[in-house]
Amino acid sequence: MGERNLHSKPFDEGTLVKLDLFRFYIREWLPVFISAKKIYWRTLNIYDFFAGPGQDINGIKGTPLIILEELKPYYDEIEKKQIIVNLYFNEYDVEKFQELESILFQKIAGLPIKVETDSLEFSESFSKKYGSLKGSDKANLLFFDQTGVKQINVTRFKTIISLPRTDFLFFISSSTVKRFVDHPGIAKHLKLNKKEVELTPYHKIHELVLQFYKSQVPKEKEYYLAPFSIKKNAGLYGIIFGSNNVLGIEKFLNSAWRIDSERGTANFDIDNDNILPGQIDLFTGEVQKPKKIEVFEENLKSKIKNGTLKSDKDIYLYTIDNGMKISISRNIVNLLIKEAVMKKEKFDLSNKVCKKNAWITKVTLQ
Ligand SMILES: C[S@@+](CC[C@H](N)C(=O)[O-])C[C@H]1O[C@@H](n2cnc3c(N)ncnc32)[C@H](O)[C@@H]1O
Repeated sequence: MGERNLHSKPFDEGTLVKLDLFRFYIREWLPVFISAKKIYWRTLNIYDFFAGPGQDINGIKGTPLIILEELKPYYDEIEKKQIIVNLYFNEYDVEKFQELESILFQKIAGLPIKVETDSLEFSESFSKKYGSLKGSDKANLLFFDQTGVKQINVTRFKTIISLPRTDFLFFISSSTVKRFVDHPGIAKHLKLNKKEVELTPYHKIHELVLQFYKSQVPKEKEYYLAPFSIKKNAGLYGIIFGSNNVLGIEKFLNSAWRIDSERGTANFDIDNDNILPGQIDLFTGEVQKPKKIEVFEENLKSKIKNGTLKSDKDIYLYTIDNGMKISISRNIVNLLIKEAVMKKEKFDLSNKVCKKNAWITKVTLQ
């Protein structure tokens, strides 16, 4: 794929999708911590461990410059509220690192943020910064735009998910997993089931990779993970997002649905729905829906009807867990009320129902 030389030519479409997803997420993340009425987390750490030189050959912004651009509207608030914003950029390639530093340092003079840079091998850089991510007054956003698959191995993944108040996105070349599942260099880092990998079609491989990481989360731990599959040149890549907070995953899903308005999960027709925008279903006379949404709606209806989902909180979490938009579930709830399947109540399908001592409304079937 030539990721090492990614910046010596214009970013390709897949890279632009990845960067958009990152931008949309940081745009959702920043106000949660900076614009909150009460500031609980005084230190915000935004660390980019595979930073690149800052931009591509045409000056299209890479992750470091996207971070700066998204922070721009908040500088007054950061100063006024005395929030400490630490940015950290690591890039091991010396040439790219020098380019990054020269771009960064002319942009950050006088800004109310702290910027640290390193040119280290990732493992060294991660070990160096790990301690600074701990602490109850810190909120962390970590970006691991690795080349290939090896850096976010199982051990490192477990270390990352054990950090409090930490959201992360990592990039992974999922098709490498499919092609080289047996290769000792891959198997050493990610122990996927060979049979399952073989049975999974190429375009679904990133979702299988997500299931693998999900299986590594300790059973008792509340943790949220979501995928976004990216077709890029001849390969299948993806983002995996992780958060220990339900608001984090909701914000990631908002970002993903902004890019994929049909299914919220890929930059291509991952379920081979072959739907043309606005296409009418011949049988129902309605605009055709992607299979993923149809299946979700049917499952949601039957889980409400059979009493598996007992409250607005259950419905909210089921929606998030399935990577769906809240508006889809809201429509189903309204439909079931209209059909007199459930009693009309003030259901709150928002992350508020997950807060401590939140008011939970029970579903009453009629
Ligand atoms: C996919 S690019 C990152 C792109 C960057 N996030 C951007 O938006 O432009 C991956 C970068 O990580 C660097 N890199 C690859 N392996 C690394 C490692 N083991 N440690 C540190 N940097 C590494 C590469 O030189 C490359 O610039």
